[in-house]
Amino acid sequence: MPQGTGLGVGAAALLLLPLALLLPYLYLDRPEEEWPSSSIMETGTLQKFLEDFRMQNKAVFILGATGETGQVLLREILKRNLFSKITLIGRRKIEFEEEAYKNVHQEVVDFEKLDEYASSFQDYDVGFCCLGTTRSKAGADGFVRVDRDYVLKSAELAKAGGCKHFNLLSSKGADKSSSFLYLQVKGEVEAKIEELNFDRYTIFRPAVLLCDRKEFRPAEWLTRKFLGSLPTSWAKDHSVPVITVVRAMINNLVTPSDKKMELLDNQAIHNLGKAEDSTQP
Ligand SMILES: NC(=O)c1ccc[n+]([C@@H]2O[C@H](COP(=O)([O-])OP(=O)(O)OC[C@H]3O[C@@H](n4cnc5c(N)ncnc54)[C@H](OP(=O)(O)O)[C@@H]3O)[C@@H](O)[C@H]2O)c1
Repeated sequence: MPQGTGLGVGAAALLLLPLALLLPYLYLDRPEEEWPSSSIMETGTLQKFLEDFRMQNKAVFILGATGETGQVLLREILKRNLFSKITLIGRRKIEFEEEAYKNVHQEVVDFEKLDEYASSFQDYDVGFCCLGTTRSKAGADGFVRVDRDYVLKSAELAKAGGCKHFNLLSSKGADKSSSFLYLQVKGEVEAKIEELNFDRYTIFRPAVLLCDRKEFRPAEWLTRKFLGSLPTSWAKDHSVPVITVVRAMINNLVTPSDKKMELLDNQAIHNLGKAEDSTQP
């Protein structure tokens, strides 16, 4: 093959990579449940909800607190002083130097033997699950093991341990009948957790997460660059900053709800996550 042709093929592959990563998200671009967020933000009621929530002295666990979303979630929860007990459940201990983290508990578990760690999930009011891996990192079987089996087993133990409100970080396009493994697994685990019948169950379905990921994922990196070159409104439909997801998670958490199940799509996450600065203590 002439050298120029080889370079051309390489460049085309680079351009197609972000599109390939975005394909599952574009494929099922259907409307999901609308979230009436703006009224909460406009009235300033959110500040009151935050204060009321704080007074309840609840306990929370976070799965995946070493990940990009989990780390930000922990930081933002601590900043707002929302819980009387915070526990991270993970496969490894994290070393924290900052004073703010000194009261954070940690449970190190073997996810392959989660049944032996039922006590680690005991007595939490709220649980957040930000666990996940990728097919390129763990292979197809490994991805299913983490994103379905570990997540579902954790949810079962949380329910058995008394957790009232379970929050699942899923993905845009999650659908148990999808032909994309990623979306199928996300949809399947969403549905199976719903069967556990938590008092309150919230699913977040963000599109591509925007963050400065420490681990280098070339396809994700290219996708972010690609999205950055698009008109803002289009990019907003297909991506969301991690901090916006986290603010949506927290704003939703403190907002009382009588719904058993809440589904926040990418648009709802943007809406609910955008009101922030005036609400911090
Ligand atoms: N990336 C995106 O654009 C995107 C878009 C929509 C939805 N999501 C979903 O959002 C969720 C969070 O994504 P993220 O990017 O914040 O996650 P992340 O940075 O990849 O972190 C994943 C977390 O899961 C843990 N984990 C991974 N493999 C594990 C294993 N084999 N055993 C135990 N723990 C394991 C990691 O622990 P260690 O630190 O110990 O590895 C880490 O705490 C995932 O479910 C993902 O599918 C992602």
